[in-house]
Amino acid sequence: MNITKNAIMEDQSNISEVSVALAARSYTIYIGEHLTPQVIDYLKSQYAGKSLYILTDDIVCDLYAVALRAQLKQHGFEKCYLHAVPAGEKSKSVESYATCLSWLAANGARRDSLIIALGGGVVGDLAGFVAASYMRGIDFIQMPTTLLAQVDSSVGGKTAINIAEGKNLVGAFYQPKAVFCDSEVLKTLPEREMRAGYAEIYKYGLLWDAQFMAWLDDGHGAALLAHDQNDVHEAVKRCCEIKAEIVSEDEHEGGVRALLNLGHTFGHALEVLCAYDDRLRHGEAVAIGMCLAARFSVRLGLIAAYDAAHIEAHLKSVGLPTAYADITDAPAINVDDMLSVMAKDKKAHAKGINFIVLKALGTAFITAKYQEDDLKAVLQEFIG
Ligand code: NAD
Ligand code: GLY
Repeated sequence: MNITKNAIMEDQSNISEVSVALAARSYTIYIGEHLTPQVIDYLKSQYAGKSLYILTDDIVCDLYAVALRAQLKQHGFEKCYLHAVPAGEKSKSVESYATCLSWLAANGARRDSLIIALGGGVVGDLAGFVAASYMRGIDFIQMPTTLLAQVDSSVGGKTAINIAEGKNLVGAFYQPKAVFCDSEVLKTLPEREMRAGYAEIYKYGLLWDAQFMAWLDDGHGAALLAHDQNDVHEAVKRCCEIKAEIVSEDEHEGGVRALLNLGHTFGHALEVLCAYDDRLRHGEAVAIGMCLAARFSVRLGLIAAYDAAHIEAHLKSVGLPTAYADITDAPAINVDDMLSVMAKDKKAHAKGINFIVLKALGTAFITAKYQEDDLKAVLQEFIG
């Protein structure tokens, strides 16, 4: 695969650097294996003498955070604090957010302190919002430990928590100062979480880069899920390049960034209907949502039925859910349930819901031009 779209530098230790170009808020994403020495060098050069606050979850805490803090202390960061929230989506809550703020204040965090988000998308979104709002904004870096977080949530500055009324309804656009994607940590990630991250990887191919999609179809998707290090590196790098290109053009989602929500309006509705519990991981919801977006695109005459079948077959082949029946213990719902939840999505607006649809494999666009009957027909077929 020949990647030329974004500026990339590789040094001798095979660390790729992708830059997110946002003027004064620009930053670098470092991608490689065993990145702790790079993290320490970076912190010594940028935050020497400052207090560090590692925010993590209780699973990642035992696996990596305790060791990271010990290493940082050894390297002279005496004031290095650690806080672990319970693992899982429920920690993206107002209560958990308040606990984090109190922990910072109780441990003397100041404007020149740094938050280190060490964990998956839950920790990254929560820590980012804490960083955005504590003392009106302090620095943070992302050390994503799930595949999903490395290819998507740690990049681009969307930070958020959930409230009872909906997912990610409270948050801010707030960019990290750097992102370190270390493939080594993915080796402890459960297979189900790897697959959930893979759904977001396939999303980038589908909406932006047919060549990348073909590369994934051609066995590299399955190989990266089996932890082929070259393929993991290549995929994380390509996704970060695409996201960097899109975010650099449209930081606040006024236009092209909305394409990154391919499958998400359907997916978020399914997450709500499954109460954000273990029945459906975010990436799994996105996988099903992309299949629905593809079927909707067929219904609108934009792509051929065999294109939608191709997407479904590929996602199924790597073990992702593609249909409502694939959700274990799925709640009994009807089309109106789906429609009413989708209408509350934060991407909905006064005139209705915009959908990201496909006009080819590798090309997506946003549309409001559809008949409600077409949407209902696709949902009815899906729910069965
Ligand atoms: P997650 O953070 O809940 O992590 C999944 C599970 O993996 C957790 O149990 C966690 O403890 C565990 N884990 C993390 N790293 C591990 C490791 N290296 N080894 C073993 N276990 C590990 O879930 P996620 O899928 O990373 O993130 C989902 C969240 O990301 C959702 O809240 C979603 O809304 C958000 N998201 C945000 C954006 C964005 O742009 N901000 C984009 C996509 C998704
Ligand atoms: N995950 C979608 C975005 O960052 O815009």
